[in-house]
Amino acid sequence: MIKGTFPVEKFETLETPFYYYDMELLRETLNTIKKETENKPFHIHYAIKANDNPRILKEIASYGFGADCVSGNEILRALECGFSAAKIAFAGVGKTDREIHIGLDNDIFCFNVESLPELEVINTLASEKGKKARVALRINPNVDAHTHKYITTGLNENKFGINEQDLPEIVNIITSSDHIEFIGIHFHIGSQITDLSAFEDLCVKALELQEWFNKQGIRLPVINVGGGLGINYHHPNHCPMADFESYFRLFGKYLKLQDDQTLHFELGRSVVAPCGSLIARTTFVKEGLQKKFLIVDAGMTDLIRPALYQAFHHIENISSNEAYTPYDVVGPICESSDVFAEGMMLNLARRGDLVAIRSAGAYGETMVSTYNCREIPAAHFSDSL
Ligand code: LLP
Repeated sequence: MIKGTFPVEKFETLETPFYYYDMELLRETLNTIKKETENKPFHIHYAIKANDNPRILKEIASYGFGADCVSGNEILRALECGFSAAKIAFAGVGKTDREIHIGLDNDIFCFNVESLPELEVINTLASEKGKKARVALRINPNVDAHTHKYITTGLNENKFGINEQDLPEIVNIITSSDHIEFIGIHFHIGSQITDLSAFEDLCVKALELQEWFNKQGIRLPVINVGGGLGINYHHPNHCPMADFESYFRLFGKYLKLQDDQTLHFELGRSVVAPCGSLIARTTFVKEGLQKKFLIVDAGMTDLIRPALYQAFHHIENISSNEAYTPYDVVGPICESSDVFAEGMMLNLARRGDLVAIRSAGAYGETMVSTYNCREIPAAHFSDSL
């Protein structure tokens, strides 16, 4: 089995658990995305919710990418870290007045609007400021992303987006709202999508909708297909990067853009997941009746994905090269769901060994909690250890 390379000696001096980011891999990923999208009318808005650590955000912003935000505070964080307001898209079903004000005051690129009442409030608040808000409609395309039900967002039964049957009414209102500039349509069908055919279905739907809008005499300068590109959680060493080439090629092939039209992407996980690992120390090795438990000092408060979505994260014992043995890797939290993996093959472990829980750069640090009065884990970076 190939293992990742980690500066274990340096880790020995650090308090565990902590997040460790491989900044070289992050840069390689950003360079690949840049290469795949330059010279095309493609725009990337990195989804801040995947990882909002300022060091990571500054790195991403330095490539000139935009941001996809889902709260007013994410907009402020993105601005602080160097993202340009002109490249910020703001989504979310429950934008508060304060958050809408933040978007308007900063003249962000676009509000991705998810309902009629939201549209009306944005129009009112923009008129009070004598401004025009750029708006894209988030449409629920009823496309199945074939992913975990908690991260499927584009089906009719989800709370997200506007249903197709409500479009005629909304379009009437949008075109008669003096303080709204309608710029296009937005979708997001789900996350951790590895079967790219779901994106083909999305392209078909987007083209159908575009035709409908064009028939109403409305042009769509912006098509935003959201995020969702998945990564390989099982083989982080063999496949350290998402398949960006196939992903962007697919959109180029299936979504023929009209003149002056731009295609927008809101990638989160695929940008940051592979570069992050949660490093924990073995507190005890406990022999059960039928299994061995590796009890580590990180828990579901530090990385909730396995407990919340039954997500798989590859784990390595980075302190040992002894024979591989199956372990249930568990945390110290008082919940039976505080399990990182069952039957994970790890090099024989002893108390004090360090383990790396891989592919934790997305939805890891951002979903930390202090349940059980736990500390927030620190973050360390490969280029400044
Ligand atoms: N755009 C919108 C409107 C979204 O709701 C999301 C993610 C994204 C873009 C970015 O999607 P990505 O490229 O990261 O798949 N906590 C879950 C994932 C929740 C995703 C929520 N929305 C997890 O740990 O798997």
